[in-house]
Amino acid sequence: MSQPSCPKAALNDESRQFALLVNSVTDYAIYMLDTRGMIRTWNPGGQRIKGYRADEVIGTNFSRFYLPEDAAAGVPQRNLHTAAVEGRCIEEGWRLRQDGSRFLASVVIDPIWDDGELIGFAKVTRDITERHRAQERYQKLQANLLQAQKMEAIGKLTLGLAHDFNNLLTIIVNCLELIGTRVKDGAVAKLIETAMRAAERGALLSRQLLTFGRGQTLSPERVNLADAMRECQELLQRSAGDRVTVVFALQDKLPHVSVDKAQLEAAVLNLVCNSRDAMPNGGTITITASAKKTHDPAADAQAAAPHVCLSVEDDGEGIPLADQARVFEPFFTTKAVGRGSGLGLSQVFGFTTQSGGFPQLSSVPGQGTRVALCFPASEG
Ligand SMILES: Nc1ncnc2c1ncn2[C@@H]1O[C@H](COP(=O)(O)OP(=O)(O)OP(=O)(O)O)[C@@H](O)[C@H]1O
Ligand SMILES: [Mg+2]
Repeated sequence: MSQPSCPKAALNDESRQFALLVNSVTDYAIYMLDTRGMIRTWNPGGQRIKGYRADEVIGTNFSRFYLPEDAAAGVPQRNLHTAAVEGRCIEEGWRLRQDGSRFLASVVIDPIWDDGELIGFAKVTRDITERHRAQERYQKLQANLLQAQKMEAIGKLTLGLAHDFNNLLTIIVNCLELIGTRVKDGAVAKLIETAMRAAERGALLSRQLLTFGRGQTLSPERVNLADAMRECQELLQRSAGDRVTVVFALQDKLPHVSVDKAQLEAAVLNLVCNSRDAMPNGGTITITASAKKTHDPAADAQAAAPHVCLSVEDDGEGIPLADQARVFEPFFTTKAVGRGSGLGLSQVFGFTTQSGGFPQLSSVPGQGTRVALCFPASEG
């Protein structure tokens, strides 16, 4: 016959079971604090998440897990106070591991009452860094995708406009030429000449728009980007002006890329002129050509493939964050009327994407700007 269970043994069993449960949990740090925040118990989850063994933390204050600035601002004690007064404190915040690295913690602190007296706190911490990073990655991907869709839509619109504009200009130029054959001199001939010049400017504009809309006829050839930069070194230095030093860091033995050389030179010239304008008091432009395995960040599903990247970096005024998503749009300019038409980076964008590559912009206001053009390395 079985013995009736003794209540004390049951209680012992229950607390043992509870201890077993807490000590089996490795995804959550579950531990108790006394009323001052001194750590009284520890579990394997605490060790896994924060890196400390039980004997390293028991008896020390839980504020050691907080960032120094949060600890100095009294956040740990404030959280205990909130838990005691409001019955619970729920918080997400950055914490420190033993090795000094940071993790994003989801924290719940519950007060423990005994006969109406506060005797300590139960604290449960979860490491949600990975979830946070995944969310960040997703948001970045989403923003890249939106940006790519926006550029695609503007590109289509621009391409349509540029084509129509071109057709109209062709008619205007043909008619002017016909009139020109009949009127050789006098005031009318001068008017024809003025109209012709305007039509030529219009044609240049529509060519730039065609480039942005990826409708320009390119003549790609096998190019070594380092050699191409050496060839136009003098032109680039001259365009940068006397106050700016142009430094070249060109990797040897680069794989070839397939690009239109004239468009490539125009793109680098556009970048150098932008950098020069961003450094009115002088500075340094660094032009780099290097091979790397990368992929278009707007197309995250792609595997990294061999590319050759040409970058132009300056230590100028940088681009405000709000403008960074817009600088490749045609006609976006922050320069005074007559100083810029806002088509430079559009040419860079159109030429690079039409060549199968992608541009990458990174800029820190007050520190500088780097625009890299990455082209797929051609095989063979
Ligand atoms: N290196 C840079 N540093 C700071 N701002 C830049 C830089 N490059 C581009 N920008 C910003 O991006 C805008 C657009 O550049 P983009 O080259 O397309 O046109 P623009 O230089 O204004 O005119 P254009 O090139 O047609 O003469 C510039 O007006 C400027 O605000
Ligand atoms: Mg420009």
